[in-house]
Amino acid sequence: MARAQASFVCQACGAAHAKWSGRCDACDAWNSIVEEGAPAPVGNGAQRRVKGRPFALEHLKTEDEEPRRRITGIGEFDRVCGGGLVPGSALLVGGDPGVGKSTLILQALAAYAKAGGSAVYISGEEAMAQVRLRAGRMELSDAPVALGSATCIEDILSTLEKSKTPGIVAIDSIQTIWTSALEAAPGTIAQVRTASFDLVRYAKATGAAVILVGHVTKDGQIAGPKAVEHLVDAVLYFEGERGHQFRVLRAVKNRFGPTDEIGVFEMTGKGLAEVANPSALFLGDRASTSPGTAVFAGIEGTRPLLVEIQALVAEAGYGTPRRAVVGWDAGRLAMILAVLDARGGLGISTHDVYLNVAGGLKVGEPAADLAAAAALISSIGDRALSRDTVFFGEISLSGDIRPAPQAELRLKEAAKLGFSTAVVPPETRADAAGLFLRTIKDVGELVSFIGVPARSAARRARIES
Ligand code: TYD
Ligand code: MG
Repeated sequence: MARAQASFVCQACGAAHAKWSGRCDACDAWNSIVEEGAPAPVGNGAQRRVKGRPFALEHLKTEDEEPRRRITGIGEFDRVCGGGLVPGSALLVGGDPGVGKSTLILQALAAYAKAGGSAVYISGEEAMAQVRLRAGRMELSDAPVALGSATCIEDILSTLEKSKTPGIVAIDSIQTIWTSALEAAPGTIAQVRTASFDLVRYAKATGAAVILVGHVTKDGQIAGPKAVEHLVDAVLYFEGERGHQFRVLRAVKNRFGPTDEIGVFEMTGKGLAEVANPSALFLGDRASTSPGTAVFAGIEGTRPLLVEIQALVAEAGYGTPRRAVVGWDAGRLAMILAVLDARGGLGISTHDVYLNVAGGLKVGEPAADLAAAAALISSIGDRALSRDTVFFGEISLSGDIRPAPQAELRLKEAAKLGFSTAVVPPETRADAAGLFLRTIKDVGELVSFIGVPARSAARRARIES
């Protein structure tokens, strides 16, 4: 039988260690190991004395119809969940402290309850009075949400089991919940894991949809994080840059829906407002265009989304040139710079380069390459791009522009927002959109389209700076 002695657990990755050390061997995190109560001894099935009961195996096909989803009425939230919450499922909503998770969940529950559903909100972080105050500010006080303030999982479960099963239960946050069965402090991985497991089991047994709210730690993980993600059916992240009022809800795992869907909200004085037309929001007021900005016609999930990509290329000071990205992948920028150098003859690699996606959005689509390249070329050549032009297309290492999926949808959105020209990969067709299409086959052609004479661009930047 395995000895029950490993009681030092890394809070970042969950690895168990026999003794404390400053650094976790498994994930290299520093200062993440915490002493927890010794786990119950486990052997393998053959060694354990209790014999299991056999159960019947069944056919994949079912006569039952698909369960009716629980629609909260907050459209952006429902869409990211895949069309509402599935009965008996567990959903984890993660995000930085203060991003607005409690606000979002309270609004969703209030909307659900107002439409006749039964909703329970258990706050482990805030006292009842604080939650009421917040609800009052958001003008939701009259919504029939059942409110509780508790942190002990046993208390929560017996409260829930005492009354009729609610449609949706939210626990805010999972890090504050603890079980008396464990000695470990609340918030440790063992506590978070046990409490989540109990709540997931409650959801499966009763058919209630359970929402768990989880804080993300500084380095981007939900604390006690990976330990919970595999337990739940769906994981949503609520993101937003500090200083921006936009908030993006993004599905990263969903057993019952797509994972590339986003919901866009705006934080107002009265809670979160849904943003029906995010493109207009992310483009902001583009009254003037300066060199270094290009509009990317993107797709997020099922929706087209236009965003502005901003680049600044400056003569490098001393030593290694600086590269900084916001809302964009640093590796991808390095690749585009290398291709622009090798195939476009720009001589950009010795410059400092800054790339920013406006509005605090994160762009992960390869189709954004062309817009980023256009912004970079525009900046180094000091040539502003035309205000009414959008870009999309992927750049390959050979410098060719590759097609992007759903071109028609991107073009239609651009036309709707008043753009007249689209710079696109070869063989892009859009019969309905009514935009002027300028096809570009490689980065060399992009450089001459923007009008920066190759090779001289770098020199010009040097002279001007
Ligand atoms: P909150 O939902 O408490 O964040 P979380 O649960 O993710 O920690 O949101 C807190 C922030 O939202 C706080 O900084 C204030 C802001 N806020 C508004 O701007 N307007 C509002 O109506 C509400 C309720 C919060
Ligand atoms: Mg909160």
